[in-house]
Amino acid sequence: MTIVDLRSDTVTQPSPAMRRVMAEAEVGDDVFSEDPSVRELEAATAELLGKPRALFVPSGTMGNQLALLTQTRPGNQVVVGHGAHIACYEAGAGAAWAGVQFAVAGQRGCFDADEFEQVLTPQSAHAPKSVLVCLENTHNHSGGRIFPERDVLAISAVARKHGLRLHLDGARLWHASAATGIEAANLAAPFDSVSVCFSKGLGAPVGSALAGDDALIREAWRFRKMLGGGMRQAGVLAAGALFALRHQRDTLVYDHEKAKSVAAILRDGGLTVVEPDTNIVMIQLTAPAHTLVEACGEQGVLFFAMGSHLARLVLHRDVSSSEAIRAAHVVVRCQRELSRPKS
Ligand SMILES: Cc1ncc(COP(=O)(O)O)c(C=O)c1O
Repeated sequence: MTIVDLRSDTVTQPSPAMRRVMAEAEVGDDVFSEDPSVRELEAATAELLGKPRALFVPSGTMGNQLALLTQTRPGNQVVVGHGAHIACYEAGAGAAWAGVQFAVAGQRGCFDADEFEQVLTPQSAHAPKSVLVCLENTHNHSGGRIFPERDVLAISAVARKHGLRLHLDGARLWHASAATGIEAANLAAPFDSVSVCFSKGLGAPVGSALAGDDALIREAWRFRKMLGGGMRQAGVLAAGALFALRHQRDTLVYDHEKAKSVAAILRDGGLTVVEPDTNIVMIQLTAPAHTLVEACGEQGVLFFAMGSHLARLVLHRDVSSSEAIRAAHVVVRCQRELSRPKS
């Protein structure tokens, strides 16, 4: 049975061309700042994001956590959207390492300036101090949603008025840029820090980066060391990430097209689907999501339940259009079987 793996866009395999540049990468000890391939990746990332500097880190989680460690103090409050990765899927790291507490703005993942202002704490000796707001673009838990630019700008204006800094979890910022045609640097412009991933959709096996100004990156460098993220001949990984950045960003639009085709088939098949902005398709179910996940898994179509009645399918470069279409028909068939009254 051929497996179609739609669990995540992190399941991609490095291509032969990517493996070649990784094998041949020029490397040095990056803890001594002597790895030329890492330097090149950091410079290219900083330029694409329009920031003075970037720092290569092993994971998106570490990029986000460095953003918290560098811009907050224990006891501070950080505002996030509902289902934010930085608050919900990083094993409690924000509380454990930076010692922050999170306040959730709105209920949709993306939020607007009014929802943001409502959760800001008053300046008093009793309330935790709100110092940072984190936006996620695209927003994973709400189905790869693109954060509306007008809301980003309005939230940024409110944040500045109240003296808060802004962090962007841009694990899939490349997707937002590809779908909107807005340069990543413009999407990143309102933010003090931006984390991006090379291993989600872009197809690199490992790696993320945090971008910001020189002072922030110096601090982040020290915290990366504290967390054990100082890597030695990391250029082998950086070369794969740089290859992904240079050669595999333009093809993200095909993943968005595949997501739209899958959504259309599911909808025609009677399922309730959130129209995808990018590469993620969310199905809202009346029955528990795990039953559909298990039935499709037996037919070789893999995806996750994201909640009791919510299933997530993620399109990526290692799934062809025909495989995506076949998978969608399997989901429709399995759902029909499950809905059929038992005799
Ligand atoms: C929006 C978002 N931010 C951060 C991360 C964390 O990335 P990593 O798995 O590399 O730690 C993920 C992972 O899926 C994500 O979806």
